[in-house]
Formats: sequence, structure tokens, C-alpha cells
Amino acid sequence: VNDRDQSDELDGFRRLERTHRRIEEKLDALVAACAELADPERRYASIERILETVSFFARAAVRHHDDEEETLFPRLATIPKLAAIVSVLHAEHHAHDQAFEPIRRIVERWDETGPSAKEEQELPGLAAKLNAIYRRHIAHEERDLFPAARTALPASAAEEMGREMRARRGK
Ligand SMILES: [Fe+2]
Ligand SMILES: [Fe+2]
Repeated sequence: VNDRDQSDELDGFRRLERTHRRIEEKLDALVAACAELADPERRYASIERILETVSFFARAAVRHHDDEEETLFPRLATIPKLAAIVSVLHAEHHAHDQAFEPIRRIVERWDETGPSAKEEQELPGLAAKLNAIYRRHIAHEERDLFPAARTALPASAAEEMGREMRARRGK
């Protein structure tokens, strides 16, 4: 590991961005799997894929919100020009939870027969909605918040944030 990789690893903003890329991959997987449910040949694989992505969102996406809400946003509380955007982004986290909830509830009910015909019809729309709001939010954060926050905070902040995020995962 060279010096650059090491500082990259500890940089809190980069860590948030890396998680965004994983969230986008999982969103793509979820959308694709929901669309393939209706295909009898792909149904079983789709169900597995949906279960896997739903468990990702239940774990990793929750921790990502914690990283932002407990590690990044509080550091920005004293920067007046960022207050408005932080409060919008914070509210959007609740919208993500609300959009994810019906998907989680459906998946939780499944037994070995998988989704009902009605659920099969509902899932693509629910996944598309989650995908759309998440991507808009991520773009907003990376375009309008992270660069401004990095500039406004002291130079040591990015690494301090990275250490907090690591500690949150018990590493
Ligand atoms: Fe966020
Ligand atoms: Fe984020």
C-alpha cells in the first residue's frame, strides 16, 4: 500500500463516494432482478438477487446514513451557507427509508414460493422509485455538498471522519 492509497482509504469523503458506487450497483441489480421476476427461467435467480440486495440496503445503506448524519452533517452545523442543503439531504434520508420499507415488507413475507403475482407486479415500480430518488440524492451530495464541505472544513477533517467511520464498523 503506497501513501496515496493509504490516505485515500482514510479520507472520509472518498469513503462516502465509494459507498455511493456500491449503492448504485445494488440499485441496478435490484431493478434488473425485479424486471426479470416475470421470466420463469430467471425467476429463481431473481429472487436470490432481490434477497441479497434487500439485505445490503438493510445493513450497508443504514450505516451510510449514519456516516453522513453522525459524522459529516454535525461538522457542517456551524457553516451557514451549507445549512439549507444539509437539511434537505437529511430529510431525503427519511424518504429513502420510506421508499425502501414496502420492498422490505414484501420480501420479508416470502416463503419458498417467492412473490405473489401481485407482488411481482408491484416490485418493478417500487424498485424504480427507490433507484430514482437515491441516484438524485447521491448526485446532489457529490455535486453540491462534498466539494463545498471539503473546502469549508479544516484540512484534518477528512481523515478524522474516515477514522470515525472505521470505528463505527468496529475496525
Ligand atoms: Fe445521503
Ligand atoms: Fe450519501
